[in-house]
Amino acid sequence: MAAPLRSLIANSKADFCKIDRQQNAPSVLMKDWLSASGSGSGPISSNQPAIQLPFQRWFKFKEAFSPQFIVDCAKSFKRKPRTCLDPFGGSGTSALTAQFLGIKPTTIEVNPFLADLIEAKLTTYDLESLKQDFFQVIERRTEALASEAFPATFIEPGVNDRWIFSRSTAKRILEIRNNISSIDSKTNRTLLNVILGSTLVPNSNIVVNGKGRRYRRNWKTQEKTPNQIELTFRRAFHNAFADICHYGERPEKSFELHRGDSRQILKSLDSVDFAVLSPPYPNSFDYTDIYNVELWMLGYLKSQDGNRALREETLRSHVQIKRDFSNDTLNSKTLKKTYRKIKALRSELWSSYIPEMICAYFVDMREILDGIKAHLNKGGKAFLAVGNSQYAGVEVDTETILKELSLDLGFRTASSKPIRSMRASAQQGGREQLTESLVILGK
Ligand SMILES: C[S@@+](CC[C@H](N)C(=O)[O-])C[C@H]1O[C@@H](n2cnc3c(N)ncnc32)[C@H](O)[C@@H]1O
Repeated sequence: MAAPLRSLIANSKADFCKIDRQQNAPSVLMKDWLSASGSGSGPISSNQPAIQLPFQRWFKFKEAFSPQFIVDCAKSFKRKPRTCLDPFGGSGTSALTAQFLGIKPTTIEVNPFLADLIEAKLTTYDLESLKQDFFQVIERRTEALASEAFPATFIEPGVNDRWIFSRSTAKRILEIRNNISSIDSKTNRTLLNVILGSTLVPNSNIVVNGKGRRYRRNWKTQEKTPNQIELTFRRAFHNAFADICHYGERPEKSFELHRGDSRQILKSLDSVDFAVLSPPYPNSFDYTDIYNVELWMLGYLKSQDGNRALREETLRSHVQIKRDFSNDTLNSKTLKKTYRKIKALRSELWSSYIPEMICAYFVDMREILDGIKAHLNKGGKAFLAVGNSQYAGVEVDTETILKELSLDLGFRTASSKPIRSMRASAQQGGREQLTESLVILGK
């Protein structure tokens, strides 16, 4: 009991005033920010070394770029680029790094919780009102909470004697959420919501990774309490507040954030100097599943229909929902060969939709590449971090297929180099190393 109590006192109002005074000069911000993680030594697109970086620590997003990757892309131009685009925003690494570099970012993200995470990182705050709103949220007690229909597995008594949150923990989460919703300032509301989102899985009975969710060992005897939610919320806010104070004066403060499906939104954007993106890989990983706890508990999803509608808007990189996987004929000989091979092994696949999903994925990616090409200024480049996948022993050579499609679309150059290796997912049944590459397209 003593330790949590001490931390609560440390996060008092006086403590926040101390942080207020630690502001830094803008000229040293970028170097300072990057060196906080030692990220320069890490593999180019992995976020592993950057997870403790200011802002990146707000929410653990394993699939994020390392900021150094964006810096390297920007530095590859003779003249400093002024604008950049990321159509798969995720946790906002490219947009935030662009602000540090003095480049105006445009980003698109389909997942509304992640879009809020991006907005929270890029926004400028009034520190005084933010502090006041935080204390209002944490101190107010709400009598009655509106009842909401969560999936049956979420809250005690759950299903088959298993639940993700105990009733008392869920009550405290909903109380904080309710208090946040009564705040006037939209920017403060968004940040506090994101902070609350970061506390959910760590205070639940499950762990979530690329393979889905599973219950923690001994979760029944070591269930989290409402106090722990409050404590982690306070700590997370404290970190975020410190980051905002320290790095608020970035050389570029403006940004453009579009919420929704980049296949559609790309059609209506202004042109940019470069694009940098890490699209979902064709490996059946569904981001809607991975961030499902945040989406439901924070009220972004209110029904199974809403869940399905969100999945429909995501790139066709997974088979979690049945949808139209019919495909156009794409001009890539590597894709045609791969499709033929995987189709012949359909009976060995864990989902019979996989061969068509792979084609549909590249139909979507072709649309994305076409949209990027239309919005790149002359001399502009697109940098794509992409990964290969494997099904029934057949490797999907994403890098080569995307290069073939890009040249067919009229990009002037298409080159690539390896980034790092990653393990084949358990669903692919193997331990082989799959290639992750940087594809560079020139207009
Ligand atoms: C690999 S993550 C991007 C990570 C990002 N580079 C970062 O540093 O955080 C891919 C993102 O694409 C998003 N996404 C999937 N389909 C999308 C679509 N159709 N439009 C926009 N975003 C989409 C997912 O929600 C996910 O956040």
